Amino acid sequence: MIKAVILIGGPMKGTRFRPLSLDLPKPLFPVAGFPMIYHHIAACSKVPNLQEILLIGFYRHLEPLKKFIAECQQEFKVQIRYLLEYTALGTAGGLFLFRDQILIDNPKAFFVMNADVCGDFPLLEMLNFHKENPAGSYGTILGTEATRQQSLRFGCMVEGKATHEVLHYVEKPETFISNIINCGIYLFNPEIFQAIETAFKKNAKDSYKLDDPVQSREMIRLEQDIFVPLAGSGKLFICHTNKFWSQIKSAGAAIYANRHYLAIYNKTHPDRLAVNSEDSPKIIGDVYIHPTAQVDPTCVVGPNVTIGKNVKVKAGVRLRESIILEDAVLQDHSCILYSIVGWNSIVGAWSRVEGTPNDPNPNKPFAKLDIPALFTDDGRLNPSITVIGSKVHIPPEVIILNSIVLPDKDLNSSYKNQIIL
Ligand code: GDD
Ligand code: GTP
Repeated sequence: MIKAVILIGGPMKGTRFRPLSLDLPKPLFPVAGFPMIYHHIAACSKVPNLQEILLIGFYRHLEPLKKFIAECQQEFKVQIRYLLEYTALGTAGGLFLFRDQILIDNPKAFFVMNADVCGDFPLLEMLNFHKENPAGSYGTILGTEATRQQSLRFGCMVEGKATHEVLHYVEKPETFISNIINCGIYLFNPEIFQAIETAFKKNAKDSYKLDDPVQSREMIRLEQDIFVPLAGSGKLFICHTNKFWSQIKSAGAAIYANRHYLAIYNKTHPDRLAVNSEDSPKIIGDVYIHPTAQVDPTCVVGPNVTIGKNVKVKAGVRLRESIILEDAVLQDHSCILYSIVGWNSIVGAWSRVEGTPNDPNPNKPFAKLDIPALFTDDGRLNPSITVIGSKVHIPPEVIILNSIVLPDKDLNSSYKNQIIL
């Protein structure tokens, strides 16, 4: 029997995702029509004999999670539970706290997945790879290649080429170590808890020397506290993937993830993609339209657009590379490009909402999405996608360019490169 754990974090995280994470825990933000971690659960549901999925985090606002879990349990016929950490315990602290829950029913192995990554999760490949690890091994880390420069933003691993063993692990190194990066997807044997317990005991001892005894004692970081000491001991192995993988740290990354998940639907769920017909809007490329959304047949939609539940898209609207969230209204002839329009927001007639993509450089092999700082060195907003928070009202005939609009704003003019508070 196999289990899976998804590390969903809590409300302190996801600050780069504001204002969208003000309304909903970031792991539930919809990408390609479904919450971010729905895609993780869908991937887990394809693993034979995977019987339970545990979400570990410290979100206290339980309603959205409960509703999501109930819907997923019904759809995937797998047990899902949310285990609440009393505070941020780090990427291994929650695993340690809930070790008995994880180990109940004696799983042979368990997946651990960071919530804020997306991809064509190769869980079956990992399982097959993991079976070949030598006896006594603790786990398999999914690795992928990044550019030299970008690797510094991730966990970096030096690999024993013949054995695929992790020889050396450095989390977010200051200088180049290796271009094989940690994807935040793991498959562990129960024996990993021996290493976590060792780290726990060491931290507990060390923490008496620190100022903040409560927090630091129980905080265990999978990367620094477990992988670093285990590297070179023949216990951790790297399973490589060339398939699509990205982090979702910012709103711009959600647009990028949206595009890739829609592309994956061509293979896995072609029924989810809109098609051209006589009385439908003109569809270009991959588009997901929720069955309850109303899109006028005079609209032009795509490529890479997701239109959420109950959205109303009026005559002549143009949509491209964007996510329109539940209950939004796009009035006649508005144009939305590289943007996210928040829940219940209204875009006025003939208005234009436009952002700037920051896609990876297509000429650099293995380039990942860059997450540019919000501001430039001279204090100006870095051009990025436009994000309209929830319940925002955009009047007719204005242009909102490269801006971030916080929830509940009633705008009365055009804006360019601004955060509208
Ligand atoms: N339950 C819980 N408790 N989850 C947590 C906590 C915690 O205290 N802290 C972080 N997480 C979750 C986050 O929600 C996220 O899904 C994941 O753990 C990793 O979060 P970060 O700590 O922000 O790390 P990171 O994303 O910068 O880097 C990690 O992921 C990279 C791949 O995306 C590292 O594992 C890197 O090595 C890796 O390359
Ligand atoms: P490329 O394909 O990159 O060459 O761009 P484009 O010249 O097609 O136009 P752009 O990326 O600026 O806009 C994307 C689409 O939106 C175009 O097909 C335009 O027809 C449409 N579009 C642009 N501005 C407006 C607008 O103000 N209103 C409406 N309704 N559609 C617009």
